[in-house]
Amino acid sequence: MSGFVICVDGPAASGKGTIANRLGALYGLPVLDSGLLYRAVGVMLQRAGGNLDDAGEAGAMARTLKAQMLADPEFRTRAAGEAASRVAVHTPVRMALRDLQLDFARQPGGAVLDGRDMGTVICPEAPAKLYVTADPEVRAERRWKQLTGQGEAVELADIVDDIKKRDARDSGRADSPMVAAPDAVLLDTSKMTIEHATDAARRIVEAARARWESSR
Ligand code: C5P
Repeated sequence: MSGFVICVDGPAASGKGTIANRLGALYGLPVLDSGLLYRAVGVMLQRAGGNLDDAGEAGAMARTLKAQMLADPEFRTRAAGEAASRVAVHTPVRMALRDLQLDFARQPGGAVLDGRDMGTVICPEAPAKLYVTADPEVRAERRWKQLTGQGEAVELADIVDDIKKRDARDSGRADSPMVAAPDAVLLDTSKMTIEHATDAARRIVEAARARWESSR
């Protein structure tokens, strides 16, 4: 990998997506929303009448995914998030999506990678890593605002349940993708506005970029 790669990992609705997009704009780097890949596999498998809990079926669907297929607004719904976290537990799915993510990370100019295991599995050698987190209740409220803003009629209490279930599914197994890389800088955004959080992220990345440049 020759370009400057920034990994922004963390749990659902921690603010990592917004932070990743703003860092991308700031540094002129393309941004990969890796959650969208898992969402696409889940939704496409459901549409095909497949079983989200079947590793073989989910893996086969993941192998058909191409970057050009990701624009579908249905991938952004609450149901898609739930389907994503069910297919994400299967090793064949994670292996199939790995190559797409690696290709993105290896672009010569660098990239911003938003996800769970960007700094641990996909790009452990990345020079800049953030682990963005926030209290579950704060994250639930943010996700609820996002979904209602997209026109979905959902109750906040149901989103609190979703977030807790999703955290448990994403972190409750031996190969869990939801662990901070040892060299990631932790950013707890619970009490921060998005402007404050982006500014804190920018300062962390500036320091990482200075170290990366002086080591080349
Ligand atoms: O971040 P987002 O809510 O779009 O992610 C949806 C789900 O996809 C997560 O709950 C997680 O189960 C899965 N995921 C993953 N690894 C990633 C990104 C997302 O397992 N790198």
